[in-house]
Parts: sequence; structure tokens; C-alpha cells
Amino acid sequence: MIRSVLAGTGRALPETIISNYDLEKIVDTSDEWIVTRTGIRTRFVAKTGSATSDLCAQAGKIALERANLSADELDFIIVGTVTGDMKFPSTAVYVQSKLGAKKATAFDIAAACTGFIYGMDLADSFIRTGKATKVLVIGGEILTSMLDWEDRATAVLFGDGAGAAVFVAEETEEKVGILSTYSKSDGTLAHLLYCPGCGSINPPSVQSIARRDHYIKMSGNEVFKHAVRMMRDSAVIGLERAGITMEELDLLIPHQANIRIIEATQERLKLPNEKVYVNLDRYGNTSAASIPIALDEAIELGKLKKGMTALFVAFGGGFTWGSACLRY
Ligand code: UT7
Repeated sequence: MIRSVLAGTGRALPETIISNYDLEKIVDTSDEWIVTRTGIRTRFVAKTGSATSDLCAQAGKIALERANLSADELDFIIVGTVTGDMKFPSTAVYVQSKLGAKKATAFDIAAACTGFIYGMDLADSFIRTGKATKVLVIGGEILTSMLDWEDRATAVLFGDGAGAAVFVAEETEEKVGILSTYSKSDGTLAHLLYCPGCGSINPPSVQSIARRDHYIKMSGNEVFKHAVRMMRDSAVIGLERAGITMEELDLLIPHQANIRIIEATQERLKLPNEKVYVNLDRYGNTSAASIPIALDEAIELGKLKKGMTALFVAFGGGFTWGSACLRY
């Protein structure tokens, strides 16, 4: 049987760290509110004009080195992002060029915070069907480029960064690599989390800029309710599809959006704290980058070791949601 095995991971972050106290000076908020309502304390913020593809390429390069592969061996580069370098071409083609991955087909996935899960789903399909043997999946965002620093409801939530993972084909009878994937969407709820400006229906104009249409808009409360439900359901479905029991699960790596959403998912799965990876306090919500960054950290810290089983769950704008179960 052909399995998609994780061969290496990497992450890249901008240099600047902004604390809740720094934000108190910009918007009407407090460290106390942000910590209690979200669990976030600091986040990485890229300089204005930075390239998302630079962060993605850095993370991808580390993942390739750890996988002992050269970029020109890659069949596909899949980048989950909603804050790419430009409207077009894709950020993935810039990553391809920066890595020198001549043979690869490179494209983006615009599934917001679920981008990395969608990417894993596709990578697994390509590998299992024999279409590819080596796929680089990246989640990378410079979400602060889309943030309205005058809107306290969103300005305090997001951060920048990129995480990457290389999956390779392995012929094996063992239950290893990607054990299940699950991805869903519901476009009837798109208006609850979106960026209304700069697309075909509202091209940039003096008026659209004045209306601040180029910034992220979110009905936080509505999104929260759906996120709790979808993350919990995705977790259960992901484990079922993988044929893994709660007891066999070693680590839950949830999308890092809000500590209360993570705790609700944890409660549903009845997992102890040591089986749930949380780095939201230091990163904020990095959208598509949150799961691969957490995965890379978890491996580095020895929280996810060879032979262990991890479950990734995500929810994001679209709405999109899903899960992936991986035996490392
Ligand atoms: O990445 C995937 C998609 N995103 C998410 O999953 C995010 C989901 N949503 C959330 O995490 C939460 O809804 C938020 C953190 C965004 C907001 O938390 P909440 O508990 O839902 O607060 P709320 O929106 O109901 O607002 C409560 C109060 C309001 O004041 P009033 O109307 O009660 O007087 C807000 O104006 O908190 C106020 N508020 C703030 N106060 C201080 C909103 N933002 C802030 C802020 N600082 N930054």
C-alpha cells in the first residue's frame, strides 16, 4: 500500500513580536480582555511590504533539509494562503522559484485557516494515486497586511508566519503517515469572515479604500459558535476515518484561533492537557500557518515522536473546516 509519510517540517517567523501591551497603545483594548477572551499574549508581525513567499520558502527549505531532499525532486508545492504576495500569480510559484523546484507544479489553496488541511488532503490524494512521490505543503500568511488596526475586534487576533511539511510516498503495510483526511466547506456562511475589497465585485478605488473594504471583516461571535461545533465534529470524524481511538491518540494539534475553541474540542475528545498542543499565546491566529507551525514545534520539543499519532483540526473563513490524522 502507498502511504504519504511525513519526511520533514519547518517554520519561519518575522522578527518583530508585538505584545498585547503594545496593542493597548494602538486600539481601545487591554491585555486582560485579550488573554481572557482569546488566550493570545504576543504575535509575530512582518514589516510592511514583506513577501509571504519569503516566509513560505524559508519554512519549505528547512523542511526539505530535514527530509534530506533537494527542491528539484518535488512533484508539487501547495501553499495555503489568503494573504499571498500578489493577487496573481500564486504565491506557490514564487516559492517554487525561490527554492529552485524546477520540476514541481505549484499552486495556492484559498481555504483560509483550513488551507493546510486542504493541502494535506490533496497531497495524500496525489501520493496515493501515484501522481506524485514528493509533495511540499505549506501554510503561510502575512495576515497583518489585511488587518484594520482601528478595528479592535480583529486587530488583536492575528499574526504572521509560515509552516511547511514534506510528504513522501512509501510502500508499506504499516499504519503510518496520513491515516485520514476530512475537508468540508459551506459558502452560505462566507459573509461572516471575509475581505470585501480588491476582488472583481469591488475593485480597489478611492471609495473602497475609504470604506476600508480591503481589510478583514469578521462577525466574531457567529464565527466562534460555528468554529466550536465544526472543530469538535471534525476531530471525531478524523479519528473515526483513521480507525484510531481516543486512547490511541497522542497529540491534538488544533488550529490556534481561540483558547476557548481549543478547550471545547479538547473537552469533546476528553483529552488531558498534555495531549493538546497550544502555542496560540505566542503566535495569535496565523490562519493557514497555525497547524504546520505547531506541528514543527511539537516535533522539535519531542511532544510528537516517531510512531506517535497526531490529529490536526481546523476551521476558517468560507466557511471551511476539516481534519487530518497522522502517524509520524
Ligand atoms: O481562524 C478561524 C476563524 N476565527 C475564529 O475562530 C475567531 C472566532 N471568534 C472569536 O474568537 C471571538 O468571537 C472573539 C475573540 C473574536 C471575540 O470574543 P467574544 O467573547 O465573542 O466577544 P464579543 O465579540 O461578543 O464582544 C464582547 C465585548 C463587546 O463589547 P460589548 O458590546 O459587550 O460592550 C466588544 O465590543 O467585547 C468587546 N470587544 C473588545 N474589548 C476589548 C471586542 N473586541 C475587543 C477588544 N478589546 N479587542
